[in-house]
Amino acid sequence: MRHFLDIHSTDAGDLRGILDQAKSMKDARAGRPRGAEDDTRALAGRMVALLFEKPSTRTRVSFDVGTRQLGGRTIVLSGSEIQLGHGETIADTARVLSRYVDLVMIRTFEEESLLELARHATVPVINGLTNRTHPCQVMADVMTFEEHRGPISGKRVAWAGDGNNVCASFLHAAGQFGFEVVVTGPEDLIPEAEFVKLARAKGASVELSSDPVKAVRGADLVVTDAWISMHDSPAIKESRRRQLQPYQVNAELMAHAKSDALFMHCLPAHRGEEATDEVLDGPNSVVFDEAENRLHVQKAIMRWCLDL
Ligand code: CP
Repeated sequence: MRHFLDIHSTDAGDLRGILDQAKSMKDARAGRPRGAEDDTRALAGRMVALLFEKPSTRTRVSFDVGTRQLGGRTIVLSGSEIQLGHGETIADTARVLSRYVDLVMIRTFEEESLLELARHATVPVINGLTNRTHPCQVMADVMTFEEHRGPISGKRVAWAGDGNNVCASFLHAAGQFGFEVVVTGPEDLIPEAEFVKLARAKGASVELSSDPVKAVRGADLVVTDAWISMHDSPAIKESRRRQLQPYQVNAELMAHAKSDALFMHCLPAHRGEEATDEVLDGPNSVVFDEAENRLHVQKAIMRWCLDL
């Protein structure tokens, strides 16, 4: 069973294969000669369940469109429409869904819900975000970096702000793709020690710094994300804003990175909070390429899961 649960636990060669296939399918759709592949029948006759316990724009639309581009069909279930862990056990939901569909993508809160689903499903399960990780996003981000700047191996990636689930998947990716990460943010918002340990165990250099200027110096890529994640209480909003203001990615901070440093944000962005308009809309920003590449990379992930 090939589940796509996180970047760390997926074979590095397979990750590279997923990126290559995503690029090939993207090129083919754009009519570029490099792309040779007709992907329109890969999922013909297959049904994909898309489960959302949290809101989504990009993940929902890109998985739905991606499945259809591959010739498959989707059933989208969100919020109270599903009885995941309430009404019946996650294990039973996994067993039932496996009788109806060929693949399950889930966006949920606790990582344990994803893992429980995967343990009991007899079809592949894809992680469409949990409170801890967001691997599809970071696969799209690695693809986007390489489209613009070539191999990410050996490059310096600076993460500014909350060391959240996307940051965690960047740390997973650092170990697998061989790049350096420096995380800059307040001490109580640094990523879990386990993510840092895993990246270092695979030979990646990881720095933690409370000094944003020092952190972005020499960076090839600067990344940030919302200061309040979907699972955070709105009550902390004001204190978070005060705490994270020094880590806002603005033109002044970007000026300390390499002159051709890319800027990424997985979106949705809170303009004027974690990043300013001049950066989000600036010449080094690739935020909409990241959003587009969710589509291409997830198509390749679905094909990898089903060995197609
Ligand atoms: N970046 C991302 O996952 O976007 P959505 O929350 O809109 O799916």
